Amino acid sequence: DNFSRGTMWQVILILLCISILPTQTIICPSSCMCNEKGAVKCVGNITDVPKTMPNSTYLLQLNDTNVRVLNEQSLANLPLMLRFSVSFSSLSAVHPRAFYVAPQLLSVKLSFNNLTSLPPRVFSPLVSLEQLHLDGNHLESIPSVMFEGLARLIELEMSRNAIVHLAPDVFSSLSSLRFLNLGKNYIRELPPTVFHSLTRLQFLILYNNQLERIEAGAFDELANLLELKLHHNQIASLPSEVFWALGNLRMLTLSSNRLQGVPEKTFYYMPKLTKLTLYSNPLQSLPDQLMGQMPLISDLYLYGTNLTVVPWNLFANMSGLQKLSLHLNDKLRELPQDLFCCQPKLQRLSLKANDLQVLDGDLFSNLTNLNVLLLNDNKLRSIPKNIFRHLSNLNSIEINNNHLNTLSDEVFSSNVGLRAVTLGGNPWDCTCSIRDIVGWIRRHEGVVSDREGVKCYSPQHLELRKLYSLQDEEFSVCDTTPSSYLPTTPPIEIYVSPSNPSSTPSSSIPFRTTTSIITVSPTTASQTSPDIVLFESDNPFQLFTEALPPPQGDSYFLSFPPFYDRLVVEQGQKFIHNNRMKSWVYIWSLSSDSASAGLIMALHILLVAAGVTLILATIYGMYRLQQSINEDFWEVASGNMLSNQKQKSTDRL
Ligand SMILES: *[C@@H]1O[C@H](CO)[C@@H](O)[C@H](O)[C@H]1NC(C)=O
Ligand SMILES: *[C@@H]1O[C@H](CO)[C@@H](O)[C@H](O)[C@H]1NC(C)=O
Repeated sequence: DNFSRGTMWQVILILLCISILPTQTIICPSSCMCNEKGAVKCVGNITDVPKTMPNSTYLLQLNDTNVRVLNEQSLANLPLMLRFSVSFSSLSAVHPRAFYVAPQLLSVKLSFNNLTSLPPRVFSPLVSLEQLHLDGNHLESIPSVMFEGLARLIELEMSRNAIVHLAPDVFSSLSSLRFLNLGKNYIRELPPTVFHSLTRLQFLILYNNQLERIEAGAFDELANLLELKLHHNQIASLPSEVFWALGNLRMLTLSSNRLQGVPEKTFYYMPKLTKLTLYSNPLQSLPDQLMGQMPLISDLYLYGTNLTVVPWNLFANMSGLQKLSLHLNDKLRELPQDLFCCQPKLQRLSLKANDLQVLDGDLFSNLTNLNVLLLNDNKLRSIPKNIFRHLSNLNSIEINNNHLNTLSDEVFSSNVGLRAVTLGGNPWDCTCSIRDIVGWIRRHEGVVSDREGVKCYSPQHLELRKLYSLQDEEFSVCDTTPSSYLPTTPPIEIYVSPSNPSSTPSSSIPFRTTTSIITVSPTTASQTSPDIVLFESDNPFQLFTEALPPPQGDSYFLSFPPFYDRLVVEQGQKFIHNNRMKSWVYIWSLSSDSASAGLIMALHILLVAAGVTLILATIYGMYRLQQSINEDFWEVASGNMLSNQKQKSTDRL
């Protein structure tokens, strides 16, 4: 009994407790969502801050509403509210005293509205403010007192406005600022000292403006800066030493400007840099001393420049590079031998779509960790046999779309891990010298990923044949005393005259020089005239075409523009005949080997003898004919005279 009475009292007690506990009633306005912690989010057809807000509101977000004006009392009676935002609404006016009723605010966000101006001291009551977002409006100018008193502001976001001009002291009170975004405005110039009070700044974003230059000393006080973004401006020159104070910088972007040059040592004293962009600038040249120690940079892009050459030590201080894209520089002709001296970690190197014509045999010697090498879309005419010998980790290489006509099969002999090679789009010369690489392609089926595009360009009868389809028998001619065809005197050069511009070669042919030079090897010194070409190739159909510097000395030069740039020389010594067909020049000559020469000589004597016999026979025939004509004439003539006289006498009678 006692026990049951005791439990009954306990139950009653618990029930009492439950009923006494304060049940908080949330009055949430329509169009809004409120959570019990005090976050309120409103959307839709409201035109002002709702009047009946939960007392506990600490966060109010009005998003995609019809709020046009923040008036003097809009934020009244929300003493706990710390963060307030109106975004993607049509807000176009803020009352000068709108924030006087809410000085406790830490965040104000007025992003993506229709604000064209703001009252000068509208934010001044907000002495605790940490975060101010005004991005995505139409603000054109910022009064110099706009941020006065915001000594605690950490983040100021003003991107995507129409700001053209900044007052020199506009940021002077923002001594706590860490983040400043002024990107996507129309700022033309920066007052030299405008950032000088921002000594704690870590992120300064100025991209997509109209900046034409940077004043010397502009960043001198920003020793804490981590990121500086200056890309997509019109910056044509940089003062020297402009970044030297930025010893903590991690990221610097200067891409897509108008820099034609960069002062010496510009990127010194930034040892913590991990990202630097310079691409898409019409850079003409770079100084010999440019990059200081920056061992943490792992990626570098340098493309879209007008560089024709780069200093050999350009990357020497970037010892941590893993990915380097030095490509799409359509005037970059050659690379210094030691350019990749000091990047032991490099894994991916892109040199594609430059204007490279030759590569030094030791260019890649130190890149022992390289996985991917892109050399495609250049003008390489040959690849040194040993150039890839140290690249034992290479697994992919692209050399398609160059001017290669042959390649040694030993070129990849050290690259044991090679999985993909592209070779197409080169004018492969399918004569004896191609034999080895054809064999290599067959043995490495599946490695040549563009195998169907690897085609002969010459000789003509093999044009467009796929290299892998060439059979061993087709090279049997190469086994027969090839040494007898070797040149015995140094090659001479001749130019083939281009004369008819209408028949330039088709687009698949990479030779577009206005003049083509042909290197040929004379077999004997028996030329009769310097203008006539007497030579012999090591193959009856050998094709020589090369674009070389203008001719000198004995070169036989004719003028532009190109008519044909391919010359076919048939074996022999004596110049017999030439012909033009479809932009090819054929020169036939008589074989020099004695058997056929003897045969032809015999035929010649026979022909002469036959000719003489025929002439004599004709003369005799003529003589006989004349004799018989003379006899007949006198007979006929005397007969005619008699009958004529008879006729005349009859007429008279
Ligand atoms: C590499 O950095 C050091 C120290 O910053 C500097 O003295 C040297 O000149 C730099 N080298 C190049 C090639 O810029
Ligand atoms: C850079 O090269 C482009 C085309 O390659 C040319 O239009 C431009 O004028 C060059 N710029 C300079 C500054 O030389």
